[in-house]
Amino acid sequence: MMNLALLTVLVALQTTIFFVEGFQPVKTMIRGGKQTFPRSTNSPYTSTTTTRTTIKMSATGFIGIGIMGEGMAARLLSEGVAGSEDNPLVIWNRTGAKCTALAEKFPDKKVIVKATAKEVVEACGVTYSILSTPEASKIVFEAETGVLAGVSAGKSIVDCATLAEADMIRMNAAVTGKGGRFLEAPVSGSKAPAANGVLIFLCAGSKDLFDEIKDTGLAAMGKASHFFGDTVGFGTRAKLVVNSLMGTMLAAFGEGIALSESVGLDPSTMIEVIGQGAIQSPMFNLKGPKMIKKDHSPNFPLKHAHKDMALACDMAKTAGVEYSVMEQAEKMFRAAREDADLKVADEDFSAVFEKIHKESTSEFSKKR
Ligand SMILES: *[C@@H]1O[C@H](CO)[C@@H](O)[C@H](O)[C@H]1NC(C)=O
Repeated sequence: MMNLALLTVLVALQTTIFFVEGFQPVKTMIRGGKQTFPRSTNSPYTSTTTTRTTIKMSATGFIGIGIMGEGMAARLLSEGVAGSEDNPLVIWNRTGAKCTALAEKFPDKKVIVKATAKEVVEACGVTYSILSTPEASKIVFEAETGVLAGVSAGKSIVDCATLAEADMIRMNAAVTGKGGRFLEAPVSGSKAPAANGVLIFLCAGSKDLFDEIKDTGLAAMGKASHFFGDTVGFGTRAKLVVNSLMGTMLAAFGEGIALSESVGLDPSTMIEVIGQGAIQSPMFNLKGPKMIKKDHSPNFPLKHAHKDMALACDMAKTAGVEYSVMEQAEKMFRAAREDADLKVADEDFSAVFEKIHKESTSEFSKKR
């Protein structure tokens, strides 16, 4: 009894001190607190001060400032993971111009734009990368001035793109072959979750690297990080399962709404109904109202959604799993993507809805 009382007093006291001294809540400390970020000791990024003493500094790299990368890099800055004088954010993009926009958005932060991906990796301990397609990833990774060229012992590469498993395995072998560390880290979530730091990371590869960045970089950009083991490829497997389910759900939802419209049901009411039961989905709530208004401004381009669905179907075939419902959805997305009149490949993947209406002969669909 006495001990318990004493403990209670101590806890209360500690809590008081905690607030009196103005500490941030623990979560914020981990995300934003300066002291808690482990510094890389092998970064060659150096700077000469006015007293001409060269100090060893750390830097964080980010390659690919696109739909996803722009929000993710911004989170590294806004959450204080990178962007200080002694830990700048070092970036590179395929088309350079708008890279400076990121720096301009954060005038108080130190952002360095490099001329090549190689230079980013050379300057940083950890470099995050997210490019939109396997083709772009391959070029940026393998180019003479690319990511791999900058890798040396102790360098860490975190690849957040969704690629084929074989691509991830090849990159891992190349990076670790040069003494670096590699973490496969594809993300679940698109433009808005990237900008808001609520992505879900699906990781595999270097456990040490994962442990080093899960409470810093990954926590700044995501709401959850999962480690699927040290065998690279399992992160991609997880991602492909998620994305093929997502595309299939949206295609089915699109057909449901198209049928509702075509049999005289108010689509807005139907979206509400669907959103109230056990089949509710934030994705339906978000995309439904826009779909009926033909608003498909891209958060996740249809061509990329289709790419992931096709990769998932290949994986199912290899694994010997019956996947016919998902395959049917993949075919619908493929048809939408390849439809030269419709031109929705670069629109949001919700534009599969336009293909559904195009293939329908109902009065509503024809007049739409
Ligand atoms: C980065 O490059 C990609 C590919 O060229 C482009 O789509 C994107 O808009 C660029 N981002 C910025 C911020 O310039």
